Amino acid sequence: MKIHGISIIITLAIAVSCSGDGIPVYKDASAPVGRRVDDLLGRMTLEEKVGQMNQFVGLEHIRRNEASLSEDDLRNNTANAFYPGFNADSVAEWTKEGLVGSFLHVLTVEEANYLQSLAMQSRLQIPVIFGIDAVHGNANAPDNTVYPTNIGLACSFDTGLAYRIARETAAEMRAMNMHWTFNPNVEVARDPRWGRVGETFGEDPYLVSRMGEATVKGYQGDLSSDDVLACIKHFVGGGQPANGTNGSPADLSERTVREVFFPPFEAGVKAGAMSLMTAHNELNGIPCHSNGWLMEDVARGEWGFKGFVVSDWMDIEHLHDLHATAENLKEAFFQSIMAGMDMHMHGVYWNEYVCELVREGRIPERRIDESVRRILEMKFRLGLFEQPYADEKTTMDVRLCDAHRQTALEAARKSIVLLKNDGLLPLSPEKYRRVLVTGINADDHNILGDWSADQKPENVVTILEGLRMVSPGTDFVFVDQGWDPRNMSEANVEKAAAQARRCDLNIVVAGEYMYRGRWNERTSGEDTDRSDIALVGLQDELIRKVAASGKPTVLVLVSGRPLGTEWAAEHLPVLVNAWEPGMYGGQAVAEILYGKVNPSAKLAVTIPRSAGQVQMIYNHKPSQYFHPYVLTESTPLYPFGHGLSYNTYEYSGLSVDRTEIPADGTLKLTVKVTNKGSMDGEEIVQLYVRDRFSQVTRPVKELKDFARVALKPGETRTVEFTVTPDKLRFLDRNLEPVVEPGEFILMAGPSSDDRDLLKTSVHVIE
Ligand code: BGC
Repeated sequence: MKIHGISIIITLAIAVSCSGDGIPVYKDASAPVGRRVDDLLGRMTLEEKVGQMNQFVGLEHIRRNEASLSEDDLRNNTANAFYPGFNADSVAEWTKEGLVGSFLHVLTVEEANYLQSLAMQSRLQIPVIFGIDAVHGNANAPDNTVYPTNIGLACSFDTGLAYRIARETAAEMRAMNMHWTFNPNVEVARDPRWGRVGETFGEDPYLVSRMGEATVKGYQGDLSSDDVLACIKHFVGGGQPANGTNGSPADLSERTVREVFFPPFEAGVKAGAMSLMTAHNELNGIPCHSNGWLMEDVARGEWGFKGFVVSDWMDIEHLHDLHATAENLKEAFFQSIMAGMDMHMHGVYWNEYVCELVREGRIPERRIDESVRRILEMKFRLGLFEQPYADEKTTMDVRLCDAHRQTALEAARKSIVLLKNDGLLPLSPEKYRRVLVTGINADDHNILGDWSADQKPENVVTILEGLRMVSPGTDFVFVDQGWDPRNMSEANVEKAAAQARRCDLNIVVAGEYMYRGRWNERTSGEDTDRSDIALVGLQDELIRKVAASGKPTVLVLVSGRPLGTEWAAEHLPVLVNAWEPGMYGGQAVAEILYGKVNPSAKLAVTIPRSAGQVQMIYNHKPSQYFHPYVLTESTPLYPFGHGLSYNTYEYSGLSVDRTEIPADGTLKLTVKVTNKGSMDGEEIVQLYVRDRFSQVTRPVKELKDFARVALKPGETRTVEFTVTPDKLRFLDRNLEPVVEPGEFILMAGPSSDDRDLLKTSVHVIE
């Protein structure tokens, strides 16, 4: 197919107007946004409108690929943008002609400003909106604060922290001329084989909803020039892929979709999210990118979503070349737009084909106007017309500032889960003077996690560096295992085993490899799914050989997904899950090991023993384990909500202010929590509900509230939860919401494990 620039036909519509001093209304900052949009739309040609609906990757990204990859690689690697016959210079030309609405993967403020300067040469000077995957800080770009990834953040159960991180990220993004983050990922992660668990808030719809809405509010503020646009993604079902691989089919009943996967998206829309990304996968046979039920009926119709929908990477194209529901690309664009799509990520054929579809009368121009209106409204509200550039001189005043670094450290401290402690922790520097440190993640920037570029060494504290910083008197003996779990050497394992015999204690830092810069070597992250959740390579052997020294061995896991380390959980005294803790992960791990920080995080996702146990979730149906497995356990390695502290917290006095309520009634539940330990601490108190008998089967329990409570040694606090009808509601046989009369069991405690929970029962009366 021949690609050519589309020449602009200048047809000024009649609806345009000027303010008193001759400035077009759309350029008048004091005019209401609605009027500015109408005025601008009235001036635009069809080509310019369709251009607003298209996104391209940044020129530097294209150039890097043009320079380093063969044509064949480029064509066959969907992670790289490549348009045969249309190169970076052509994209620049189109930008000057006003045919590009947005860019993604622009990594420097200089490039963003440059691209904007091209857009400012266009006829109507409509600024481009820059989108980027700022999933845990604007970490894909260098020199930004890198917070823990979402899975760790969710383990903090701290919505205020999620809000603060999103605010800070918005500030760092605006300082780079970025306006739109492709986050929060509010998928519910129900399969640990899936490589993207780390960018989600875990397996529970309630927790994901609360973390997601806090994040949306943090990014968007009041949607003005200090804020960035949030994007709730990926709509929907990708967190339970057929075989655990990214983008494979989601075959889910409408009940499951509505009960499990929709709530976080609905919460995101209600929190004001103004963009939404559809999922790679098909849902029950209909690809999400051409699914009008999802985009139009549910998101816009049922929830009142007012923002714009963006496609995911090449996924409209995949309607044709993967899902095969469209015979050609033009048909794919047609299907997607008519199902409700507003913006195309990313590529060259869009402009020409979509204009043709309009001219042929297949897509009404008013349908195009709808999408353009939504996109322009965001550009106006975010102040891009008044402030198209960021100040390159002051950009670093904001990025990586002290306050943001402090938040990154706090978040790491609150997100690291102490899974097991036989009393070895906190470590005594007097007792353990010589300490072996080894494992692929012991001294590596991989702790930054997926969706992060490498960052300067002075902005990252590795775990080894953290240990040396926190316990300066200890002799840490480091045995390097390289960064690559797939290529560990027996010789290095033996070296570590030999050193272990000479040390007083061992710290093995194992896990997954997520760094995007070595895409093909990763073991976890986007498009990096596994059929197993055991440790990769010689890591298990390393742990066993080091432990065979007879010296106490601490295992720290750095990973975006749950890992089934059953042997270690049984045989080692200490197991710590650090997730992907970000730039100060090393400091936070060390502070926790040495008791400078009391761990408080709780698992946002169940840790199964093996991939064979999948699906393993805490909120399963009553019959799930009626017949347990033979030969292996049917229980998780660690349950959802589990996480230890250096204190024990005693739960007592669970009570309700009434035991009978009408279906629309509310009750108060209180529970006392006492710090029985000797350190200040924070405990995450969890409230679960079970509907005892119901017309359709209900989960054995569902998280319905939580509270993070700070307690001094010996202190008791009474935590109060309000049980409102929505916490008792479910979908009846006709998928209508109902609160049924009958018994409900309310449970409060430190984890989802039945043995940890205090219980009481209440009745909903007719
Ligand atoms: C991912 C999205 C992401 C997009 C842009 C896709 O491969 O699925 O989550 O926002 O790339 O980087």
